[in-house]
Amino acid sequence: MKITVIGAGNVGATCANVIAHKALANQIVLVDVKEGLAEGKALDMWQTASVNIFDTRIIGVTNDYEATKDSEIIVITSGVPRKAGMSRDDLISTNAKIVKDVTQKAIRYSPDAIIIVVSNPLDVMTYAAYLSSNKHHSKVFGMAGILDAARYKSFIAEALNTSPRDVQALLLGGHGDTMVPLPRYTSVSGIPVSQLLEQDEIDRIVQKTRQGGGDLVKMIGTSAWYAPGAAVALMVEAIVHDQHRIFSICAYVNGEYGIRDIYLGVPVKLGRTGVEKVMEIELDENEKQLLYDSACSVRQLKKTLDGMKLF
Ligand code: NAI
Ligand code: 2OP
Repeated sequence: MKITVIGAGNVGATCANVIAHKALANQIVLVDVKEGLAEGKALDMWQTASVNIFDTRIIGVTNDYEATKDSEIIVITSGVPRKAGMSRDDLISTNAKIVKDVTQKAIRYSPDAIIIVVSNPLDVMTYAAYLSSNKHHSKVFGMAGILDAARYKSFIAEALNTSPRDVQALLLGGHGDTMVPLPRYTSVSGIPVSQLLEQDEIDRIVQKTRQGGGDLVKMIGTSAWYAPGAAVALMVEAIVHDQHRIFSICAYVNGEYGIRDIYLGVPVKLGRTGVEKVMEIELDENEKQLLYDSACSVRQLKKTLDGMKLF
């Protein structure tokens, strides 16, 4: 298994590191546009192999896509991250051009690869990669739902003083302030969260989840990387080991939930062939409305992408 990670910044390097630790690939190629950055980070990670006990060969290259040839999975993290005061949406004009460029270059050498997009604004950048790659939408998708759900689970675990491992949760919608955590589909070892926390505490956690990424930007000055990198690696694991796992990712919806032709956070079954199925769960009127509002804001942003006339 050969995996390419484009963008050797905070998220790309972290995700490559977790993939190596989990022994999900024989080879990881880290690509960046900044001379020496990918080479240096790859070398540093490779030099942990005897300490952390893994065999994955990690190499870094500057813009050399030939080195990525025959990758089975391509992770796209290249682009600019948010700085304090910026929304994910402010990044669109810069990142759309980068995502288009790197997708086309990578796919030339690995036409059969599955593509996982991380760059923001995620839902629209995933659409950009889909259009740039000319691949079936089951092979091009984005990471956000696992990260947002992980944040949500961590807040619930904190409130209950329990292990995040025991929290099960689902979250829908775009990767932004309109994301839709679903308390009705949240439980702790099978116990509905509504039996464990008061409604106002649940509402507070939902709101904290929606602004989770932004709060980290305020603290760090750039966007987060440990949880995003680990979340990408979980998707890679589901694909490599053909696990048929069900979790929310940024997937193409074509009629599911009454929404058509956008990429949006929905639960899917993920395995070796990519998205096997978009899972349609039952939603009440309020949840449906929140999902439609979120889809509307993603569609609005897609209009900005369309207006750039890149495709
Ligand atoms: P970063 O700035 O640390 O790394 C980005 C890297 O991309 C840099 O090293 C840069 O040189 C490289 N790059 C830029 N243009 C390139 C090109 N044409 N070819 C190859 N490499 C190129 O940023 P970070 O924190 O790693 O974030 C990366 C992206 O992921 C951002 O857009 C950020 O908003 C997004 N993000 C998305 C998350 C999600 O849940 N989907 C979570 C966290 C970050
Ligand atoms: C995050 O949620 C900014 O999308 C990035 O951390």
